[in-house]
Amino acid sequence: MKKLAAGNWKMNGLEATLAEIDALASAHPAPGCDVLICPPATLLSRLSARAEGTAIATGAQDCHPNESGAHTGDVSAGMIADAGGAYVIVGHSERRADHGESDAVVRAKAEAAWRAGLIAIICVGETLDERDAGRTLDIVGGQLAGSIPDGATAANTVVAYEPVWAIGTGKVPTLAEIGEVHDDIRARLSARFSGEAAGMRLLYGGSVKPSNAAEIFGVSNVDGALVGGASLKAADFGGIVGALA
Ligand code: PGA
Repeated sequence: MKKLAAGNWKMNGLEATLAEIDALASAHPAPGCDVLICPPATLLSRLSARAEGTAIATGAQDCHPNESGAHTGDVSAGMIADAGGAYVIVGHSERRADHGESDAVVRAKAEAAWRAGLIAIICVGETLDERDAGRTLDIVGGQLAGSIPDGATAANTVVAYEPVWAIGTGKVPTLAEIGEVHDDIRARLSARFSGEAAGMRLLYGGSVKPSNAAEIFGVSNVDGALVGGASLKAADFGGIVGALA
């Protein structure tokens, strides 16, 4: 399986930020892993054009479940594909928290992504209260069951485990804690999707940096990373790409 270094720029990035793509592409012309940048929707087509001919794929941070229609402010999966995107993140904890997205909504978005030919990166993860209460595996298991549609394959689905308390905080679970959750996710996916599950990439996300990437990538069933803050600078993201290759 080809591992994946995925960058999520969140609500960051203007025209000038596109220069980071040139720096990343020239530092890693032939990376040993798949490399993805998900910029804000405003930059997707410009970034896709700029990344053409490089090893960098592009994607979006969210999509609407419907193909078109009266949904002011939303972007459909087909529009993302049309803008050059190959992936879309769905169910990020910031969308679940800020926009009240339920597992059912996330599942519908993943289905929309597939209909448009996109790969869905489906995010799950517990809050600190849930972890402290010993409920991590139950919470993540419930999110997986509710958010991943039937029909998930190794080719159309990536799962990202992102503990909410580790996102943007500099706090990272221990390697044992990451391994426990990733092993449990793989087991649940295998029970539901049998042979396909072995090839589904399981990303860890939450305060991944060049300095901790190599040890995190050494954990069993970690097939890459979903990176926020450290994806904004080519030097930092390049360090993570290098650790994965
Ligand atoms: P972070 O964000 O790397 O800034 O912690 C990760 C994410 O939310 O995907």
